[in-house]
Amino acid sequence: MSTTRRVIVTGGAAGIGAAVVARLLDAGTRVAVFDRDPGEAHVDARTYAVDIRDSAAVEAAVSAVASEWGGIDGLVNNAGVGTRGSVMDATDDDWLTVLDTNVIGTARMSRAVIPHMASSVAPRIVNMSSVSAVTGVQGRAVYSASKGAIQALTRAMAADHVAAGILVNCVLPGTTETSWVRRLIDAEPDPVAAHEAFASRQPTGRLVTPEDVAATVALLLDPAFTSVTGESFVVDGGMSALRLGV
Ligand SMILES: NC(=O)c1ccc[n+]([C@@H]2O[C@H](COP(=O)([O-])OP(=O)(O)OC[C@H]3O[C@@H](n4cnc5c(N)ncnc54)[C@H](O)[C@@H]3O)[C@@H](O)[C@H]2O)c1
Repeated sequence: MSTTRRVIVTGGAAGIGAAVVARLLDAGTRVAVFDRDPGEAHVDARTYAVDIRDSAAVEAAVSAVASEWGGIDGLVNNAGVGTRGSVMDATDDDWLTVLDTNVIGTARMSRAVIPHMASSVAPRIVNMSSVSAVTGVQGRAVYSASKGAIQALTRAMAADHVAAGILVNCVLPGTTETSWVRRLIDAEPDPVAAHEAFASRQPTGRLVTPEDVAATVALLLDPAFTSVTGESFVVDGGMSALRLGV
């Protein structure tokens, strides 16, 4: 039985996923990155060009990793996409693309990986939700719905697989300094002011870093973390919990 942890990270080539990959590799974990655009993935990770919307590609790549490693200990369902706008703006295509990636992608990966966790001494799944699952954020209707679904799916998966010893939790990041948020900021008429506006609404005075989120993911993957499942962990610099100056 392997003592080195073996973890798949979806969307591990950029942003939060890349920070998770770097942290796990630093701890001696074997890591496979599943990304539709794996160009910038860490050189020490096994890298698979996989779109998590493609069931056949997911099944083939998971089988390849599992047979090379002899099993899988952890899955980080991090890959995600979003669209801007209210429910009045979203097209059916927007809904189908975002739900297919964020929600069904999480389910597809989990369905492929869970059978290979049978030999793990401490199997763990971490799903990437968002504070938009629990806070009304303007102009994020489709994205927020998908992230709320991921939180509900996390609880359901935790209930279904606790008897097999698989712990399933989710992380809810706030605004995190990644290429995704950089694209949103750069699309504003005054990107410097937009960045300051994002930072100033944070009680900590700065955006969340990918490393902040990665630290929480690593904790949830740790074999020593044994009695928490079906839970949500907000990593947002206090934005949704604190009311300062009232
Ligand atoms: N950045 C934030 O402020 C923030 C806040 C809350 C939640 N999140 C969530 O964190 C996760 C990562 O976000 P990020 O900001 O690092 O994004 P990012 O755009 O910087 O990186 C996302 C990665 O996922 C990959 N990816 C996207 N769709 C894919 C697909 N269908 N198949 C395989 N790979 C795919 C991309 O190629 C990319 O490498 C997402 O689920 C996002 O919703 C981000």
